[in-house]
Amino acid sequence: MFSYRHAFHAGNHADVLKHMTQVALLHYLGQKDTGLTVVDTHAGAGVYRLDQDHARTSGESDAGVFRLQAAARQAQAQGEGVPEMAQAYLAQVQAFNPGAQWRTYPGSPWISQALLRPQDKLKLFEVHPTDAKLLDKQVAELGRGKQIEVLRRSGFEGLKGLLPPPTRRGLVLMDPSYELKTDYQAVVDCLEDALKRFPTGTYAVWYPVIARPEAHALARKLKSLSTRAGRAWAQAELNVGLTPTEGTSTQVAQGRSHTAMRASGMHVINPPFTLAAQWRETLPWVTQALKEATGSGWTVEHGQP
Ligand SMILES: C[S@@+](CC[C@H](N)C(=O)[O-])C[C@H]1O[C@@H](n2cnc3c(N)ncnc32)[C@H](O)[C@@H]1O
Repeated sequence: MFSYRHAFHAGNHADVLKHMTQVALLHYLGQKDTGLTVVDTHAGAGVYRLDQDHARTSGESDAGVFRLQAAARQAQAQGEGVPEMAQAYLAQVQAFNPGAQWRTYPGSPWISQALLRPQDKLKLFEVHPTDAKLLDKQVAELGRGKQIEVLRRSGFEGLKGLLPPPTRRGLVLMDPSYELKTDYQAVVDCLEDALKRFPTGTYAVWYPVIARPEAHALARKLKSLSTRAGRAWAQAELNVGLTPTEGTSTQVAQGRSHTAMRASGMHVINPPFTLAAQWRETLPWVTQALKEATGSGWTVEHGQP
């Protein structure tokens, strides 16, 4: 039985990087009229409360989306600019929060459904019984009929049956909890298979940057599998660093400090040609807004076939 519940982590620094990228991808792919199929292989519950138990217990959104919101408000008050990619993400969160105090955080299915056009489809895989039930209920309340489908089975296994999509235009979001050690290799195997079935799709994978050999290897394997498949790729990492009580970054790298995850990455295969430049413009500002006392930073790399 899985114990990971995204409600504890909604709106943290990893969600900021992931969802900011997702908004940028959906805006870009939405420029062409042909229908788009969005597949979310690890959907979670869909939408989260920021003012209730799970989020308040962890406080992760305070150091994530709320810090970013405060930085944007301060920049605006001082007449300074906010990078467009961050603005578009914050506007998306704001759209679910009519008042000044944000209470709702949109997970990846909610961001997708908000940006879906009538000709697009959304397929959501989720295996956790509680989250799948919540997702089912929340999707049913949207009343969008067959446009949005919840599939209570493994996204790693179910993806192949959806590729290639009928219109040959698709975005696959892959965001496992990596609770199982086998998830790291499952990501690689699943992508290799998907790229054979649908080489021109856009694939966006989130991964943790933590002191674990599988995690280090995954960041590298994602680049080499994209190159082997002859596809362009872009990869960004955001590290928010450590608070004074969390130990040195050397201790964290060596796995000797018990700390929350401080860094994560996004790997995008067949990215919009604008993505790497957007990240380079935005991540210094985001890092400045979210950084802790020491060790923060960001990287952007990209490769051509
Ligand atoms: C990190 S959370 C997803 C968060 C969501 N993508 C978002 O950004 O709002 C990962 C989710 O994947 C689910 N999960 C784990 N293994 C899965 C699998 N093989 N197929 C589908 N869902 C899975 C977990 O129950 C969890 O809800």
